[in-house]
Order: sequence, then C-alpha cells, then structure tokens
Amino acid sequence: MVKVTSILVAVLLSYTVVQAKLPASAPGIVVNDNVSSDAAGYQVSGNAQHTNTGLHLSLKSNTGKKDLYGKTIEDLSVDVSFETSERLHVRIADKAGKQYLVPDSPLGVERPKISHSAGDLNYDFQYTEKPFAFKVIRKSDNETIFDTTGQPLVFEDQYLELTTKVPNDANLYGFGELTGAYRRNNNANVTTFWARDVADPFYENQYGSHPAYTEIRNGKAHGSLLLNAHGMDIFTVTGRITYKVIGGILDFYFFVPEPAKPNAVVAAYTDLVGKSIMPSLWMLGWNQCRWGYQNISMVENVVEEYKSHNLPLETMWTDIDYMDSYKDFTFDPVRFPVSKVKDFTTKLHANNQRYVVIVDPAISTNSSYEPYSRGHEMDVFMKLNDYKTEYNGQVWPGYTAFPDWFNPKTQDYWSYEISNFMKSVDLDGIWIDMNEPSSFCLGSCGSNKGNQVPPDSSDAEHAKEQAALNALGTGVPGDSRNLLYPQYTINNGAGNLSEKTAPTTATHYGKIPHYDVHNLYGHGESYTTNTAIQSYRPGERAFVLTRSQFVGTGKYAGHWTGDNSATWDYLKVSISAVLQMQQFGIALSGSDICGFLGNTTMELCARWQSLGSFYPLARNHNSEGNIPQEPYVWPEVAESTRNALSIRYTIMPYMYSLFQEANTIGTGVWRPLIFEYPEDNRFLAEDVQFMLGDSILISPVVYQGADSIDAKFPAGIWYDWKDGTAISGPTTQTLHANLTEIPIHIRGGSIIPLKSPKLTVSDTYNTPYGLLVALDKNGTANGRLYIDDGHSIKQDSTSSINFNFSQDTLAAKGQFDYQETTKLEKISVLGGSFTTAVVKGKKYQLQKDDKTGASVAQGFQIDLTSSFTVQFN
Ligand SMILES: *[C@@H]1O[C@H](CO)[C@@H](O)[C@H](O)[C@H]1NC(C)=O
Ligand SMILES: *[C@@H]1O[C@H](CO)[C@@H](O)[C@H](O)[C@H]1NC(C)=O
Ligand SMILES: *[C@@H]1O[C@H](CO)[C@@H](O)[C@H](O)[C@H]1NC(C)=O
Ligand SMILES: *[C@@H]1O[C@H](CO)[C@@H](O)[C@H](O)[C@H]1NC(C)=O
Ligand SMILES: *[C@@H]1O[C@H](CO)[C@@H](O)[C@H](O)[C@H]1NC(C)=O
Ligand SMILES: *[C@@H]1O[C@H](CO)[C@@H](O)[C@H](O)[C@H]1NC(C)=O
Ligand SMILES: *[C@@H]1O[C@H](CO)[C@@H](O)[C@H](O)[C@H]1NC(C)=O
Ligand SMILES: *[C@@H]1O[C@H](CO)[C@@H](O)[C@H](O)[C@H]1NC(C)=O
Ligand SMILES: *[C@@H]1O[C@H](CO)[C@@H](O)[C@H](O)[C@H]1NC(C)=O
Ligand SMILES: *[C@@H]1O[C@H](CO)[C@@H](O)[C@H](O)[C@H]1NC(C)=O
Repeated sequence: MVKVTSILVAVLLSYTVVQAKLPASAPGIVVNDNVSSDAAGYQVSGNAQHTNTGLHLSLKSNTGKKDLYGKTIEDLSVDVSFETSERLHVRIADKAGKQYLVPDSPLGVERPKISHSAGDLNYDFQYTEKPFAFKVIRKSDNETIFDTTGQPLVFEDQYLELTTKVPNDANLYGFGELTGAYRRNNNANVTTFWARDVADPFYENQYGSHPAYTEIRNGKAHGSLLLNAHGMDIFTVTGRITYKVIGGILDFYFFVPEPAKPNAVVAAYTDLVGKSIMPSLWMLGWNQCRWGYQNISMVENVVEEYKSHNLPLETMWTDIDYMDSYKDFTFDPVRFPVSKVKDFTTKLHANNQRYVVIVDPAISTNSSYEPYSRGHEMDVFMKLNDYKTEYNGQVWPGYTAFPDWFNPKTQDYWSYEISNFMKSVDLDGIWIDMNEPSSFCLGSCGSNKGNQVPPDSSDAEHAKEQAALNALGTGVPGDSRNLLYPQYTINNGAGNLSEKTAPTTATHYGKIPHYDVHNLYGHGESYTTNTAIQSYRPGERAFVLTRSQFVGTGKYAGHWTGDNSATWDYLKVSISAVLQMQQFGIALSGSDICGFLGNTTMELCARWQSLGSFYPLARNHNSEGNIPQEPYVWPEVAESTRNALSIRYTIMPYMYSLFQEANTIGTGVWRPLIFEYPEDNRFLAEDVQFMLGDSILISPVVYQGADSIDAKFPAGIWYDWKDGTAISGPTTQTLHANLTEIPIHIRGGSIIPLKSPKLTVSDTYNTPYGLLVALDKNGTANGRLYIDDGHSIKQDSTSSINFNFSQDTLAAKGQFDYQETTKLEKISVLGGSFTTAVVKGKKYQLQKDDKTGASVAQGFQIDLTSSFTVQFN
C-alpha cells in the first residue's frame, strides 16, 4: 500500500508546494520527446564477422555532437543472433563491457544458451554502415517491423537513445506497468520505467517495468523487448518509438512468429522471459482481504459471514494489521496472538480454506528484533556507497534495513525467516508489498538516530535528508557516473530518482549501485520468496503475490495491480491492467475488487464483484478507514457475487486448463479481443470487453448508472451463458445487465469442461465433470481439459484431453494418465437439435433446459481415464 496519510497531507497543505518540489519533469508531462537528430551517431568499422549465432559488427562513433547527457562511448559492438526462427537478438553494447547488464540469472533474466544460428528464419536483419542503422523485416510480407534508419544512435555511459519508425497511428500494446488505455498511443506518449510506490496514477511510472510491446499492423503481429532494467522513458509519438535510457546497453529481442498472430508473439516472448507460474487449484478460488482487520476475531467473523451468506471463500488475507508494530514475521501479541492465529488456520484448513499474509522487504532495525540481528550478522542488507555502512530507510515499522537479493547469502536468510514464520501459524502463501523498494524518507535517514522515527517528511526534514544524501557524494568509488542526478531526467513522477525509495547511490553485493538494479528489486524478492516458500513446503507450488515486477517475474509470482481507488475509472482501467500482465507473462493477476483507496458504493461494488469474479486472481481488498466492502455488506452485492462466482467455479476446469497453457505455451488467461481477432479493426482499441481464453467473451458494465453495454461480437455464433440465446456476429448488440448480472457469451465452436459450483474449490472439484458443447455453424466444436493433482510442482501423471465434436459425435482423445476419480456425468449442447446421446451402446435422452437453453443429457458415468466417444442423434 502507499503511505496514504502523507500523500493526503501533502495535497492538502498546498498543491503548489508539491509542484515546486518536482523537477521540470512533473508527472505525466512529456518533457522532451524530441529525437537527438544532431547527435554524432556511429559507423561500422572493419568487416562484419560471421559468428556461429549470426553476425558481429564493430562500431565507432562518428565525428559530431557528443556527450549529450553523459560520456560518449566511442567503441561499440553489435552482436546479432538468429536465436530461433521467430526470435532475433540484437545486442548493442560497449566494447569494453563496462555497462551494467541485466543479470543472466534468476535474479534477472536467464538467457537461453544459443550455440548456432537457427535456420528457416521468419525475419531478415539488414543494416547500413554509415551511419549505422538497422532494420528487421518480416519475410512473409516484407514488412519492416523495426527501422532505426534516419536517426542517430546515441550511446553514452548514462544515456542511450534509439528511435524506430512505426506507422503514424501504430497499434501498440504493452510498455507497462501502466494505468491507462490498453492500446498505448492514444493518450500517453511517454512511458517511464522506474519502480515507484504510488497509488496507480494514470500514465505515470508505477510498480513494474516491462519495456516490451506487441504491435498489430494490418492484422499481423510482431513484438519487441528492450532487456534493460535502468530508468528510461519510452516515447510513443506519431510515427516513431524513441527509447531514452539512463544506463546499461541496448539489448533488443524481436519476436516474429508465423503465422503472425498476437498470441504467438506472447508465446515467443515468454519462451524467452519465462512462462507464468502454475498456480495450485486453490489459488483460483475467491480471496478476501483488507487493511483494517484489527484483530483475529474480526477476521474470523468475516469467514463466518461469508459462510452464512452462502458466498464462496477460499482464502482469507490480512494486511499489516496483524504485525507487532509492523515488524515482519511477528504477530501482535494482543490482537493477533500466535496461538489464536494458529487455531484460525487449523480451522480454515479443516474447511479447505487458506490464509495468506503480507510481508514487506524492509526489516525493522530495532536492535532487539531477531530477524534484523540475524540479517545484520549475516551481512545481507544493502549498503551505502562506502560499501560498508548499512543503508537504512523508513517504512511502516520505522527505520529499516533492506535485504539485498543479489547477495548469495540472502536466500538462506530469507528462507529461514519465511519458513519459520510460515510454520509458526501454518501459512499458505506470502504477499510481498512495498518492494519497489518503498522508503518514506530520502537517503539513509535512519542512520545513527536509534529507533526514533522523525515526523513525516516536512519540507525542512526533506531538505535535511537531501543535504545528508548529497554529502555522501553523487556516485560510488571507482565509478565516475553521477548516480543521484544523471543529466537526462526521466519522467519519474516522484521527482529525483532516490525519492521514496532507496538512494541510487546505495549499493548491492558485488559493488553494484542501486541505480543499476532498482527496477529488479521486486523481481529479486519474488524469486527469493518463491524459493523460500519451497524450502518450507518442498514440492508444493508456492504462492507469492508481488507488487513490483520486471520482465519474467510471472514465473515466480502473481501480481495485483496495486493501490487503486474505489472509483468507476479504476473499475474500467483494471481490465487493461490485467490484460497487460497477461501479455507480460504474469497470468495470475487481478486488481483490488471494489477498490482499495476511498469508500466504495453499493453500485460500484456490485459491478466490480461481477467483473472481478473473472480476474485470473480474484481478491476483494480494502484500505484502512473505509466503509466495509465485503460482498455480504449489501444484498445486491452479495447476489451479484453469488451469480458471478457460481460461473467462475462452474468453469474452473476451463480456467485451470488456461493457466496450464499460460504455464506451458504462454498464452493469457485473459486476452484482448484484438489478440483473438486481429483482423477485426473494431477491436483495435477495445479494452472493456475481453476474452477469457479463446471461448468466453465477457462484456462488463463499467459505467455508473448504466444497466447495459453496447457489445461488439466477432464473427461466428455467440451463446448467452444465461439463457443460450444465439447471436450471430459480426454485430453489435445492446445487452441489458441489471446490477447483479454480467453478460457472458460462449463462442460457438468451443467445448468447455465444467464442475458444479460449491463454496470452496476442493468441494467444487469433488463434483462430477460436465461439458458444455457450443456448436458453430457447421455443427462442430473443440475444447480441452487439463487435469493434475492441483498442487505439486512435479507431476507423475497428468491428463490433457482434447474434445472434438463433429459429425454428431463427441470424441475425447489425448493423454489420460492422471487417475481421475470423478466422472463425466453431464453434457449440455448449445445449437443443434439432438434427442439422444449414446454412450457405449446405452441411450440417454436429451432434455431442453428452459433456463440455460441447452439440450442436456445426464446420468453418464464416463471415466476420464481413457478416450471415449458419445454419439448424438
Ligand atoms: C532534486 O535534487 C536537487 C539536488 O539536491 C534538489 O535541488 C531538488 O530540490 C530535488 N528535487 C526534488 C523534487 O526534491
Ligand atoms: C524539440 O524540437 C522542436 C522542433 O525542432 C523544438 O522547437 C523544441 O524546442 C525541441 N524541444 C526540446 C525540449 O528540445
Ligand atoms: C519480398 O522482397 C523480395 C526481394 O525484393 C522479393 O523477392 C519477394 O518476392 C518479396 N516477398 C513478398 C511476399 O512480397
Ligand atoms: C501526446 O499525448 C498527449 C496527451 O497526453 C496528446 O494530446 C498528444 O496528441 C500526444 N502527442 C502525440 C504526438 O501523439
Ligand atoms: C476487535 O476489533 C473490533 C474493532 O475494533 C472490536 O470491536 C472488537 O472488540 C475487537 N475484538 C477483540 C476480541 O479484541
Ligand atoms: C523494539 O522492539 C521491542 C520489542 O517489540 C519494543 O518493546 C521496543 O519498544 C522497540 N523499540 C523501539 C524504539 O521501537
Ligand atoms: C468513508 O466513509 C467513512 C464513514 O462514513 C467516513 O468516515 C470517511 O471519511 C469516508 N472516507 C472518505 C475518503 O470519504
Ligand atoms: C436481475 O435480473 C434477473 C433476471 O434476469 C432477476 O432474476 C433479478 O431479480 C434481477 N435483479 C435485480 C437486482 O434487479
Ligand atoms: C465451416 O466449414 C467450412 C467448409 O469446411 C469452412 O470454410 C468454415 O470455416 C467452417 N466454419 C466454421 C465456423 O468453422
Ligand atoms: C474433429 O474430428 C473430425 C472428424 O474425425 C476431424 O475431421 C477433425 O479434424 C477434428 N478436429 C480437430 C480440431 O481435431
């Protein structure tokens, strides 16, 4: 969470004071989107060398304007690797190898080991020698998808600039984490990457950094990643994208799949950065959290209320309230006594429910606090720029030290603390917040002041902290860079780089300045926490939910979109926020349902519960001081929740199969319509309606007072989940949805595996399977079901069953290794006019279900352990 009080205080005190404290690059204002057209640029020197993986070039700086915002690096090398037929790697680096690279390790991005150039390339790489520039061309249609010609390359120690041409009205998706429209070049033409603890402002830098995008041109898609963790601005301006980066190298990857489908770009991207974590089944259940559950009785009461209102609840969460003086790994002895918390989790577990709590990276420096003394003893905390003195900031518990994930000893430290803590009350998962990292003061404000916390940073206090920070120097020994105030000022909404976080002159293991790894801090914590949880429960899928993330974090953790507000704007924008995460390979994601900051309303909460019930990660979360917003607070909200969650739990086998595809192929659990229908221009900027997988279209109502949505339908037949009404696309239809409903349509041509909804995932999974067969115009349909034990990392046996309905026959084929004990008992068909279903010679009558509009055959006892067919007549 953000420290709300200080923000409110600042705003109330005087808006102009806040403004005055900001540099020229005030949040959201594009300071300088110009290209440095007059820069010297580079030329190829010597001959190109062919290498095993592609091509090597040497570059020399041209004569002309240099040192724009740093020291020009004269000699560069360009290594072009044809890594796979669809992935091209272009690395432009300083020849001396001094610039910082994203580590090739779990704390950064583990690069695939490429020894030979791939054959059968989907792309061409072309370059010009003087000035040096390059193009990436998709061979199948000769489309130039990346083109740096016409603008000089700038490569300085603290400033990199590169521009590529794009069409004037390019369709770009990505460049996040960002609160804003899903299609990226409408409103915001700068995206700034500098991890920041802030309450989801529109079009400003926030918690995560993914300098990656997918572009759709004429129905075809390609993608690109700049693998660089430094602060940067990416300008998406008419006709071009300009990268302005304050360090590192230009490490570009291009994704050019054939056929050039958007989902294939996501698959290619996650081939490189890692696939999304495979969640345990229980993580698909409903979550309830709030900041403001002041004692364990309140928490127990919420669980009771859920039950008495007949509302599903899988996992109960608590925010920092449970801690003793906000210290990690402690429980308040009066409000959350360990013995009572332990009884609580025991009871939850007996009902197949779970408990997850928040943990912040910052460790209180209170000298009598063991997690601190152990970490101090092991020497695992971040340091100042003398490489010796511990860097201390300030977070909820007061002065704090910050674990340095880059120190190899930190894993042992964190594993010990996390497992001891989890064991103490038998926790099920860890929610990691404040890991940008957030600090409430500037610099090492806590040094030498004992445990006394100063008043909230007033201007005077801030000036003192600023002076103290400056006095330590603007860099680190042996490095001439100005790390506090680099000459190029990125559009950091917080102002100077070290505001509200660790100073950029603080240091990590290996003498790495925080400047170079700031955007990796939450990523490192995600990996280290996932590994720590696995040391507590070996073999079990760890549950980590992180706020800060980087390229590839999805393989360690899920993400919630941080501190949103209980407003209609945030309800709507949660859709693009979740879609972005899907594209970045963080499938397990969602926004705080009903809104975190501010008071929600009955109407907003009813709509949000309906939509949020379909977030890949579905959690209602509220902030301190607000009115309660659990779904049972209002009868209408309870009803909307029961309606929507009964659908979620019904289609859970479908969702779980989608998560498994995210984990293996990389495709999103949620998908923008344009990714499924790239040729349909009506969907280029659509970010209210979206797809759950490729079979379910969701059309939520996200405007106050509205009770309908003008929903666009792609080509084909779309069946209303509620009553089976078929709509024939392409078309637009006004769909009515009262407060307790959300319009859901099934794509004709799909087969969806079902369960009967209960109040927990495990009770739901104990019910028999069903299938919903939604026929297309040709009377055919396809679908898939993935089954495993639902919680182990390694699986001895899994089932992956493909269903195919064609010529009046449903055939199930595939892999049937998992010893599934529940049977397939029911098949519902939408479309077609059948009266009987024949299974192994036995006839079953189909009955029309007046409510769902489907023809239903039931009473089978079909084993899902071998292939079978069902004949319809
Ligand atoms: C940024 O740092 C400079 C140099 O210490 C200082 O003058 C300026 O006020 C700082 N800006 C903000 C917004 O704090
Ligand atoms: C950007 O370029 C335009 C046109 O060349 C020029 O007028 C403007 O001053 C430049 N802006 C900055 C901030 O350099
Ligand atoms: C692409 O360009 C090459 C060379 O100009 C040409 O041989 C080829 O036919 C073109 N391919 C397409 C699909 O236009
Ligand atoms: C940049 O964004 C602003 C709104 O933030 C918009 O008015 C302007 O047209 C955009 N500029 C370009 C060149 O796209
Ligand atoms: C828990 O907190 C609530 C709200 O402050 C209070 O009404 C209740 O008495 C507390 N219960 C216990 C057991 O302390
Ligand atoms: C340090 O922690 C101990 C034990 O929780 C507590 O009694 C003490 O007040 C704390 N000291 C400070 C200065 O916060
Ligand atoms: C939320 O509602 C409570 C109770 O009515 C009120 O005390 C509080 O000020 C409200 N908060 C906001 C941000 O309006
Ligand atoms: C919403 O409509 C459904 C029928 O579609 C009806 O059963 C339900 O009572 C309505 N709820 C409200 C709050 O109007
Ligand atoms: C129906 O079959 C025709 C002929 O095989 C095919 O072209 C068309 O794509 C099919 N339609 C659907 C919706 O599958
Ligand atoms: C479904 O079965 C039919 C008939 O056996 C076959 O022609 C078709 O290719 C199958 N479709 C899929 C997607 O497997």
